[in-house]
Amino acid sequence: MMQINTIIQGDCIEELKKIPNDSIDLIFADPPYNMQLKNALYRPNNTKVDGVDDDWDKFGSFSEYDDFCAAWLTECRRILKETGTIWVIGSYHNIFRVGNIMLNLGFWILNDVTWYKTNPMPNFMGTRFTNATETLLWCSKGEQYKKYTFNHKLMKKYNGDKQMTSVWQIGLCIGAERLKGQDGKKAHSTQKPEELLKRVILSTTKQDDVVLDPFFGTGTTGAVAKKLKRNFIGIERETDYITLAQGRIDSITEFFPEADW
Ligand SMILES: C[S@@+](CC[C@H](N)C(=O)[O-])C[C@H]1O[C@@H](n2cnc3c(N)ncnc32)[C@H](O)[C@@H]1O
Repeated sequence: MMQINTIIQGDCIEELKKIPNDSIDLIFADPPYNMQLKNALYRPNNTKVDGVDDDWDKFGSFSEYDDFCAAWLTECRRILKETGTIWVIGSYHNIFRVGNIMLNLGFWILNDVTWYKTNPMPNFMGTRFTNATETLLWCSKGEQYKKYTFNHKLMKKYNGDKQMTSVWQIGLCIGAERLKGQDGKKAHSTQKPEELLKRVILSTTKQDDVVLDPFFGTGTTGAVAKKLKRNFIGIERETDYITLAQGRIDSITEFFPEADW
């Protein structure tokens, strides 16, 4: 029996293998970016930039990263229902590699949604444009699977009676929504904003559907799924993140009004 509304601790490839074929309505994946940061990044005033330099983001080579992505994406495709879809978010560091692997595995791209960050981190050294976007690939299991869930009318209503475009203007996760450690610093370097997950889950699931996230982090997917009266399964390796995510989800007492739309 598949346990729902639970966080599974472990490596996502191993844990995904235990999930039955054709059993999941939606997958949201926010995998390691493989940023390949060689050195710490400093601002012109010599203060250190709080970027993504976590161990979970480090891979030995591009081919190691590609093999890792092919392995978890293969399992994701196997467990998705024919009516299901998958969203994968990434930056310019990884999304082109991930997209290529997805196409080779048979996924069919339905949209590439651009998350336009209204409050991006500046390019401190002034050597490039400020990087203000991430890309979400939204895909079905394959071209032949045409009966996937897409709540067109609901999203139009959510967007003030106008069809929503594939450019989403949403701020980075800051303020009260951002989980902090005892030291007052960010508890996780890449916590995603709830508004992003709200659009993902609202547009491509129905009430009581199961949403799986193989890189659960602080549990944004689970928190939003619960607020929208959907079920979730999270997979995460790190104990500290699981503790944070579980506390966050347990403390939710109110639903989004859109849950009943
Ligand atoms: C980009 S973050 C996800 C952040 C999440 N979307 C949020 O809003 O908090 C990626 C997460 O995947 C976890 N992770 C990395 N490799 C993993 C693996 N092989 N199996 C399970 N979790 C993994 C990391 O510990 C990290 O928390």
